[in-house]
Amino acid sequence: MTRLSGITPSGHVQLGNYLGAVRRWAAEREPADLFFVSDLHAMTTPPRPQRLRALTREQFAVLLAAGIDPDALFVQSDLAGELGALNWILECTCSYGEAARMIQFKEKGAGQESVRVGLLTYPVLMAADILLQGATQVPVGSDQDQHVELARTLARRFNANYGDVFAVPEAVVPKTAARVRDLADPSRKMEKSNQQSPGVVFVLDEPDVIRRKFRRAVTDGLDEVRYDPDGRPGVANLLEILAACTETSPYTAAESASTYAELKDAVAEAVIEELRPVRERARKLLDDLTELDRIRAHGAKRASERAQPRLQAALRVTGLR
Ligand code: TYM
Repeated sequence: MTRLSGITPSGHVQLGNYLGAVRRWAAEREPADLFFVSDLHAMTTPPRPQRLRALTREQFAVLLAAGIDPDALFVQSDLAGELGALNWILECTCSYGEAARMIQFKEKGAGQESVRVGLLTYPVLMAADILLQGATQVPVGSDQDQHVELARTLARRFNANYGDVFAVPEAVVPKTAARVRDLADPSRKMEKSNQQSPGVVFVLDEPDVIRRKFRRAVTDGLDEVRYDPDGRPGVANLLEILAACTETSPYTAAESASTYAELKDAVAEAVIEELRPVRERARKLLDDLTELDRIRAHGAKRASERAQPRLQAALRVTGLR
């Protein structure tokens, strides 16, 4: 089994990224794991170069601090050559309609005067990430499910056209916290690019900031702690976060508080305890950039070596080599 997944440096790592993805990458270590900061994907809505560099470094440190094996980590653009080649081959395997059907493309492109081609082909580059490394499992939050589905389709189609080169991957989505919602607006998912929202909790937030964000979380006027994701999404979100941090079910978590104020305090404290060691380790790692760069270079070499045989096979069977 080869697990692979990535995170895009389009903002600071937030609680949804952590509970829905990063924490699981670190918890269930497998020898063939590969996790990366997908800086190329950040180019669809590019931060300024200096900020992109800083965010890439910060996310890399957070992944290490979360307990991911340094051997399993790399930065996507360090494999820009390999990925660029496979990305093109896969773009020529994917139809316009398939790419345009992706929910994220529709959401992010909606209402924009000019939409970048990169926003359309974003999931194809994801497929290149996955297929290049022969990943069989892709641990993600539920928002990435459809993209992994496209990677499956492209792998199957390529194999049927040219011969068996790629493993067919599957998405692995968690039972709780697969879609953490914005505390200020439970109708939308928590997103790191939504920097202005007071309802996005960042992994590197100080405890007091986290407490304040939870205290202001939007709920409803009922003040009855019960898990009802459709009817009461704000409370359900708090219960899911509490359940993920305390490793219970949201139903059990609901028994631990009798008022919303109690619930908000309990969730805030559970999140603070969950994130504290990660924040402290990440801050230390960010003090030693030489060591971070060394780990990055080592990871790049390993990931590139692993990618080569599959890339060469793809070039060969298509007649390019
Ligand atoms: P990104 O950076 O948007 O998110 C990283 C991971 O966090 C999950 N996630 C969430 N989970 C629960 N609740 C939320 N509110 C929430 N927000 C985000 C995402 O599902 C994801 O698992 N395109 C990808 C990165 C990528 C990738 C790949 C992933 C690039 N290549 C190949 C898998 C395989 C992205 O931007 O994720």
